[in-house]
Amino acid sequence: MKFQVKEKKIYIETYGCQMNIADSEIVASIMNAAGYSVTGNISESDLVLINTCSIRENAEQKIWNRLKSLKALKKRNPDLMIGVIGCMAERLKETLLESNLPVDLVAGPDSYRTLPELTFHAERGQNRINTILSEDETYADIEPVRLDSNGVSAFITIMRGCNNMCSYCVVPFVRGIERSRDPESIVKEAEQLFSKGYREVTLIGQNVNSYYWEDGNSVVKFPQILERVALINPLLRVRFSTSHPKDLSDELLNTMAAHKNICKHIHLPVQSGSTRILKLMNRQYTRDWYMERLATIRRIIPECSISTDIIAGFCTETEEDHRETLSLMEWAEFDFAYMFKYNERPGTRAARNLKDDVPEEIKLKRLNEIISLQNRLSAKSKKADIGKIYEILVEGTSKRSPEYLSGRNSQNKVVVFPSGNIQKGEYVNVLIEKSTSATLIGKVI
Ligand code: SAH
Ligand code: SF4
Ligand code: F3S
Repeated sequence: MKFQVKEKKIYIETYGCQMNIADSEIVASIMNAAGYSVTGNISESDLVLINTCSIRENAEQKIWNRLKSLKALKKRNPDLMIGVIGCMAERLKETLLESNLPVDLVAGPDSYRTLPELTFHAERGQNRINTILSEDETYADIEPVRLDSNGVSAFITIMRGCNNMCSYCVVPFVRGIERSRDPESIVKEAEQLFSKGYREVTLIGQNVNSYYWEDGNSVVKFPQILERVALINPLLRVRFSTSHPKDLSDELLNTMAAHKNICKHIHLPVQSGSTRILKLMNRQYTRDWYMERLATIRRIIPECSISTDIIAGFCTETEEDHRETLSLMEWAEFDFAYMFKYNERPGTRAARNLKDDVPEEIKLKRLNEIISLQNRLSAKSKKADIGKIYEILVEGTSKRSPEYLSGRNSQNKVVVFPSGNIQKGEYVNVLIEKSTSATLIGKVI
């Protein structure tokens, strides 16, 4: 291989979503093949890669601060190469190299195969950037090197990019258009993980429900790839994320219901409870449509948990729109939610066409109302689990107390219980006795 090195060390730091976590594992694999071994100790590394997120301004601010703090390290070791990769690299391109911060190379999410080459040139002070987006790159043939793994659960990227163009969102610009990965390579990766002792895979993509693969005259859509992975072994749990409400089909729900090892949890970002705001967001569904989808989930899979994402204070949002978000939450009884203040992102449709006119303090007030409502709903959802028995996949010892083990139930709720004679990777039945704000506590029966 060209650009091969001997005995160099790479340190990778990951920010942002599950896609980035999975991408860092692909990057590790590519760099391994080029002669770099992964280290957890930044001060012994020859190359530092920061895998970045652009979703909100504060995600980028974090990276700027991190780069500032790396100045000292670079001063001590001028040969150290520092690269910014991922979504912020894609968005800001040359700006990162032109800053007075220690950035030697820049690579966007579709150019990771060129990282050995970019590093080689960066060491010689040239050609240090590749942010070309691809229409077909899926890294399908690359076997990820699992980083920070518990040896039990792993992500498998099944599609990349997003075609949805929600008006607030930067992802389509930094991740490019949707493309799906060859189903055979997905099944093979899941089989290999299972044979290495993994017991849970999460199929991930910005928009997994629009997974689509065509081969001659056969078509594989999301329910089919999900089923193929579920059929590998009943002991392999399968999860997926993220679903767009407009693509959540009854076929998918029936497939989930038919296989015990497909976990009964759907992350279904609603963003807003107001149809008017949803239209401005270009979400392509209404409040009623979303409610119908939720009712259908609960009809076909009564035990399914549902989580969501919510944005407070989008352009033109009135108090009445906000009340509609609260009332939808109350109706939906979400088990969990990620909640954000709207943050205008340069270049998005909302930034170009709509005015970011909700004052900061109102955004904050609304966000706080959303958070306190969700806290109540989350507590209610956990309380309802007390007295029930769940099958838990053991992921390891609890971070808080070493005498406890931690795992999740099918609904994706974290459950801790006294360890006894149980190993990680095993399934145990746990009777839920108590709940805290984040966890269920029980005992093995
Ligand atoms: N593809 C996924 C996740 C996208 S990013 C999806 O469609 O749901 C995760 C979440 O960040 C989004 O669901 C949204 O709630 C939030 N988000 C995205 N852009 C944002 C912005 N400009 N301001 C505030 N929150 C945003
Ligand atoms: Fe962003 Fe919308 Fe795509 Fe999600 S579906 S990544 S929110 S554009
Ligand atoms: Fe952030 Fe990129 Fe994920 S912008 S949320 S890391 S796809």
